[in-house]
Amino acid sequence: MDAFRIEGGHRLKGTVRVNGSKNAALPLMAAALLTDQPVTLHDVPNLSDIRNLCKLLEELGCTCERDGGTLRLHTTDISNSRASYEIVSTMRASICVLGPLLAARGRAEVSMPGGCAIGERPVDLHLRGLRALGAEIDLEQGYIVARSKRMHGTKLFLGGQFGSTVLGTANVICAAALAEGQTVIEQAACEPEVVDLCNLLLAMGAKISGQGSPRVIIEGVPSLSGAEHRVLPDRIEAATYMAAAGITNGDVTIENCPTDVMTAITDRLHHVGLNLETIDGTDPMRQTVNITSDRRLAPVAVTTQPYPGFPTDVQAQLMALLTLADGNSIITEKVFPERFLHVAELSRMGANLYRQGPTVMVIGVKQLHAAPVMASDLRASAGLVLAGLAARGVTQINRVYHLDRGYEHMETRLQALGAEIERISV
Ligand code: UD1
Repeated sequence: MDAFRIEGGHRLKGTVRVNGSKNAALPLMAAALLTDQPVTLHDVPNLSDIRNLCKLLEELGCTCERDGGTLRLHTTDISNSRASYEIVSTMRASICVLGPLLAARGRAEVSMPGGCAIGERPVDLHLRGLRALGAEIDLEQGYIVARSKRMHGTKLFLGGQFGSTVLGTANVICAAALAEGQTVIEQAACEPEVVDLCNLLLAMGAKISGQGSPRVIIEGVPSLSGAEHRVLPDRIEAATYMAAAGITNGDVTIENCPTDVMTAITDRLHHVGLNLETIDGTDPMRQTVNITSDRRLAPVAVTTQPYPGFPTDVQAQLMALLTLADGNSIITEKVFPERFLHVAELSRMGANLYRQGPTVMVIGVKQLHAAPVMASDLRASAGLVLAGLAARGVTQINRVYHLDRGYEHMETRLQALGAEIERISV
């Protein structure tokens, strides 16, 4: 099993380019099931989650050919519509094939994803949305079995106790794209990854408006065509490298940075004491930004929320940064209230953290100390890497396969910025 060995205390300096977004790419890839014509995606990151979805799409009759950052998808065989437990259990985001399969084939069997390290993760809202469009859905032996002739547009509400659902919105939009008549989704997820999906669907001939707002309106069309699309840059990866610059008191230039959809993040980082200077702002979704940090990091309060709020996917990285702030910070997790597995690991590195329910008080310390730690989920692992970059001594982070799900060659990219980090086999 791979691990990272990080010698802390080196300032990061240099330039890093943000990759295409994993969370945008997954539903974009699944949308290729909606048409029998080729869909070409550019800037697709080479990550284990993407490779796993390719494997699933191949099983579902959609060929996936990669050429550098370009992925060509083509659905040629519609005989198998079953997403097996073997694949879905490795990646719960595989649920994103449910809406496209049902819309294009009138049937879908998708293994129930089950919980994961960051919480229970139900799919009730996905099912509620698809049922509202007329799908019959049963749960049979751990599988969601969905059937429908052509679905019918309707007005539906997709809010749950934690707000909107990103992949649930993606599923319902894909299903509504081929439904008969008009669908109005209230409390749709406003995440930029949902907007990116709508942009691909529009290029495929779908009729959608309101994407990026809580009310999305879809006029169903009888069929969709192929299209070519460039994946939106990854705001979570960009935020991680910003925090890496901050925690090492570094000077890092980030290219292909989707600053326009990062205001909640840049606002908090600015208050922590990071200086963000736009070097090239021509395209607000693909800016070049320079990050430097004051020696003194200031404490902040932050609450994670659905977009445009502060993303839960950056909570662990911000916590790592705040462990070294000069004062007490408060982090409240409102999207996944149990998403705190990194708290115990950061504490092993000398962080002073006090958790009560969905809130953690981060009492700033002067120095973190290296320790062997265990990665537990994707973003928690990124938080541990950041802590390791700043800690005194050599930190070993075990189980980095979690990181490989969402960060392409993280160690080589950090090495290029001057970090002392290596991948080892343990
Ligand atoms: C996506 C992202 C993930 C991110 C999350 C929240 C992908 C591949 N993953 O996950 O990185 O952390 O958005 O921004 O894009 N919920 C329900 N019922 C449902 C669905 C969700 O109660 O049917 C709850 C969840 O438990 C959670 C909240 O709603 O508390 C948000 O989850 P959701 O937006 O659905 O997350 P994902 O789309 O799975």
